[in-house]
Amino acid sequence: MSDRQPPLKVAALGDLHVREDNAESYRELFGDISKEADVLVLAGDLTDLGKPKEAELLAQDLKACSIPVVGVLGNHDYECGAHEEVARILRDVGMKLLDGQSVEIDGVGFVGVKGFAGGFGRRMLGYFGEPAMKQFVNETMNETLRLENAMRQVRAKRSVVVLHYAPVTDTIESEPLEIYPFLGSSRLAETIDRFKVSAIVHGHAHRGRYEGRTPGGQPVYNVARHIEKPTGKPYALLEI
Ligand SMILES: [Fe+2]
Ligand SMILES: [Fe+2]
Repeated sequence: MSDRQPPLKVAALGDLHVREDNAESYRELFGDISKEADVLVLAGDLTDLGKPKEAELLAQDLKACSIPVVGVLGNHDYECGAHEEVARILRDVGMKLLDGQSVEIDGVGFVGVKGFAGGFGRRMLGYFGEPAMKQFVNETMNETLRLENAMRQVRAKRSVVVLHYAPVTDTIESEPLEIYPFLGSSRLAETIDRFKVSAIVHGHAHRGRYEGRTPGGQPVYNVARHIEKPTGKPYALLEI
């Protein structure tokens, strides 16, 4: 039987970096997105310093969103050591915050994990040397294992992987080469390529490029707010 369901319109946006001074409200944008899309995906760095107060401001703005909101946290959301509270505040207003889980919405599976750094291809950081280095690599491996477990749970034919860190270098191009290893890890792409997915979105690289592909040919989109997108708006609009 063919999959004849109409495409799901997914708006995707990362790196909101909501600050305590609330200099930038997302209320209006979330209202506009609700008219354009069926689901909103937020790709981490939702807050600037991971403060509960920042999360509360975002939670207020999210009330203007009348469509389901799915997302992951980013490194900035961990800065104050209050990421659990940040997550609780956002879940309390209905956001489906994923951290190694999946959720199905209208026939599309969303899989979410923050991911981690470590570099790319043959140059990625190996499990070698000091305990601190091994711990660093372990963190990446743990995130990829949690991603793999979540991907195995998906039953839908169509799926979107939501990350904060980049799985490929295509979409971080124009960031300084020196920081590539801190922007993501190709271990994430290796895991994803064991499955067939409809799209992968990430943020974190504010100066990257919108579109790329995994080594297996699957589409990757850098949806950080700062990246220029075909919509001409801060968010990407994908038909899944
Ligand atoms: Fe960011
Ligand atoms: Fe980030």
